[in-house]
Amino acid sequence: MKLALIGYGHAARALVRLIRAQRHEYPFVVTGIHTLRHGTAVDPAGLPDDPPFGPRMESVEAFLYAARADAAVELTTLEPATGEPAISHIRAAFHRRMHVATANKGPIAHAYAALRDEAVHAGVGFRFESAVMDGAPVFNVWEHTLPAVKVLGFTGALNSTSKIVIQTMEQGGTFDDGLARARTMGITEAGGAYDVEGWDSAAKTAALANVLMDARTTPQQVSTRGIGRLTAQRVREIASQGKTVRLISRARRTGARLSMRVRAEVLDRSDILALAQGTSNLILFHTDLMGTFGTVSIDPQVEQTAYGVFSDLVALTRLAPR
Ligand SMILES: NC(=O)c1ccc[n+]([C@@H]2O[C@H](COP(=O)([O-])OP(=O)(O)OC[C@H]3O[C@@H](n4cnc5c(N)ncnc54)[C@H](OP(=O)(O)O)[C@@H]3O)[C@@H](O)[C@H]2O)c1
Repeated sequence: MKLALIGYGHAARALVRLIRAQRHEYPFVVTGIHTLRHGTAVDPAGLPDDPPFGPRMESVEAFLYAARADAAVELTTLEPATGEPAISHIRAAFHRRMHVATANKGPIAHAYAALRDEAVHAGVGFRFESAVMDGAPVFNVWEHTLPAVKVLGFTGALNSTSKIVIQTMEQGGTFDDGLARARTMGITEAGGAYDVEGWDSAAKTAALANVLMDARTTPQQVSTRGIGRLTAQRVREIASQGKTVRLISRARRTGARLSMRVRAEVLDRSDILALAQGTSNLILFHTDLMGTFGTVSIDPQVEQTAYGVFSDLVALTRLAPR
């Protein structure tokens, strides 16, 4: 399968490394890479390992035409307020009847139902496992393993930066020390602003609700308060009572009403939601037939993001030829 990569940052470079490592068993070929500032590289016969980049092509449409790929891999920067330009990139690929895999939660949080329908109309696949919790199965798990189960809600500790900030304050540091530490670890979106204000969690909550609960919502409709007002003094008071704080995403359907919120919650240290430390993430699904169960990801790195996209690409190769 030939691939056109839109975005070539941390996640895309890790994906290319994984594709190289797996090339004998899974023969993916990258025929194009399109970036914002670093230009565009295209060769429909397959790019070399360190491709030379020429000037940036004038549009994604022109790039996709030139790359002549079967699938577009959308890995551009998250824009949590609108999901653009990633939504337009995905539409351009559907228009060319190309499959799409993305780790960008913006399009899933803002336009999932429309994009899903457009993919069906174009007769192509659309996959996004790494949009929430990297490659740990939170979307694909519903495909084959849980027939007839309906998701009634979910609860998740899904934001790594907030955990690092809280942990740093518990250990005697300041809020800014924690944020600086998260930045050094390379886990922040937009330097940490989206994480601290709760935008990252709101986008994940909306994405999960859209896919698993057909919510047709946006991050703006998630009632969101970040951790910005949390002080080191308050965090240490809470710690002295044997408790901790986590930025928690919750969604719940009650009758026709769907409530979604993101809040810094005080939890007992033994609460399962408190057990996710550092960059580890945890989600619990509340269902009708399977009760409550969950997925945990321990210290995922960018390699696990790349794996999620890779697993999507493998799934796309199994679709009927276009
Ligand atoms: N990193 C992770 O572990 C991780 C985990 C889960 C999800 N994700 C998601 O994966 C996506 C990529 O993350 P990342 O960490 O790889 O980001 P990144 O390192 O900041 O790279 C972003 C890439 O997108 C390119 N880009 C930005 N706007 C573009 C545009 N309009 N057209 C073409 N290219 C554009 C940039 O081009 P330049 O190189 O020219 O600037 C850069 O190559 C994000 O949506 C992120 O939320 C990442």
